[in-house]
Amino acid sequence: MSIPYLSFNSHGLEIKSDNDEYSKTKKKILDQIENQCFEFINVLKKNKFSEISRLSKKFKKFENVVFLGTGGSSLGGKTLFSLKNDKSQKKNSPSLFFVENVDSFSMSNLIKKINLDRTGVVVISKSGETLETLAQYFYIVQEMRKKKIILKEKFLVITEKKMSTLKKIQETERFEYFQHEKDVGGRFSVFSIVGLFPAALVGLDIKFFCDGARKFLDYITHSKSHTKNFDHFFLSTYAQYKLIRKGKNISVFMPYVDCLKNFSLWLRQLWAESIGKKGMGSTLVNALGTVDQHSQLQLYLDGPRDKFFTILGRTKRETLKKDKIKCFIGEKEKYLILHNKTIDELMYAEMQATFKTIEHKGLPCRIITLDEIDEQSIGALMMFFFLETIFTCYLFNVDPFDQPAVEEIKILTKKFLA
Ligand code: PA5
Repeated sequence: MSIPYLSFNSHGLEIKSDNDEYSKTKKKILDQIENQCFEFINVLKKNKFSEISRLSKKFKKFENVVFLGTGGSSLGGKTLFSLKNDKSQKKNSPSLFFVENVDSFSMSNLIKKINLDRTGVVVISKSGETLETLAQYFYIVQEMRKKKIILKEKFLVITEKKMSTLKKIQETERFEYFQHEKDVGGRFSVFSIVGLFPAALVGLDIKFFCDGARKFLDYITHSKSHTKNFDHFFLSTYAQYKLIRKGKNISVFMPYVDCLKNFSLWLRQLWAESIGKKGMGSTLVNALGTVDQHSQLQLYLDGPRDKFFTILGRTKRETLKKDKIKCFIGEKEKYLILHNKTIDELMYAEMQATFKTIEHKGLPCRIITLDEIDEQSIGALMMFFFLETIFTCYLFNVDPFDQPAVEEIKILTKKFLA
């Protein structure tokens, strides 16, 4: 079962599926899905899996693969890459590094750590003009040239098929090339080569991942009970929107799974760049269970009542699959509360306790649980969050796919550099 379970308490806010605003937005989204208006969905059919597999075979020969890129060009891939912690990684995978920033300390540390001669480099930029990504590229090329490394066989460039600085580099240096889908924006690109390539390199099943996204779409559109299924997920989206309008404009996203830390960062970008426009939006705050129970939860429970909570974790059934731990103090005395429990059972109990406490405080909270943390369930979950983000943008009447405000920074940075 790849469809996540979701349960929700909006605390006194009555949310009904026959509400006019909700129904209209729902119809708009369902029509757009049916009419194939979303390129981040269409890409599921267009993906060239055999080409991705050829490239990943080539790059698997390297000891390390360094990804250059930022924002939507790195967060999706990095999220999938983190899942390998929860799945036994195939033996013949290289070590992956994501250089997202332009910090000389981190970059020189990385160069010192890896053998550049046994390193492949993947440069990802949809526009091909992102200054940070180009700087990362020139930095690493300079280091490789110092070591007299032949570049051509080591690089793969993923960018749009149009003239840009990165495309010019790729053509001049005759690097391997894969087209970035024209109408799939960075933060919506995880189901394209941008997310799939790093995932394939660490041995994840990328078809299974795309299958999860398709299953979620089928669940909310094609089945007989699609209206019920759709509402099951998106009434909580509508409630969140109504609550933002009432001032609950902090959205706490709190997974109880370590390997989903990067998922939080991916979602934070998707939410912020899509929704934060024209004075609208809410700020997604990343938290991690159980760690932030000992750091942030006091504030969440007893501070300003301006938050909407999403908790994410494993189902109970899932937590029983791991090894039970024997807890002895000395030879005989058992520490009963933990004895013969799995670590994940403790995590599950803590997650439920947090959910219930938030509920008792009368704060709006939903909990999403997954039977398995695998490619398919993460594919389904990412598709849900894409649609939830778009749904919320439509309610706020803002364009989910642009990010006009940050353009000024790009212009000013060039001015200051000049
Ligand atoms: O989601 C987005 O559109 C942005 O975050 C971009 O991914 C980011 O700015 C990097 O852009 P590009 O891929 O053109 O280098």
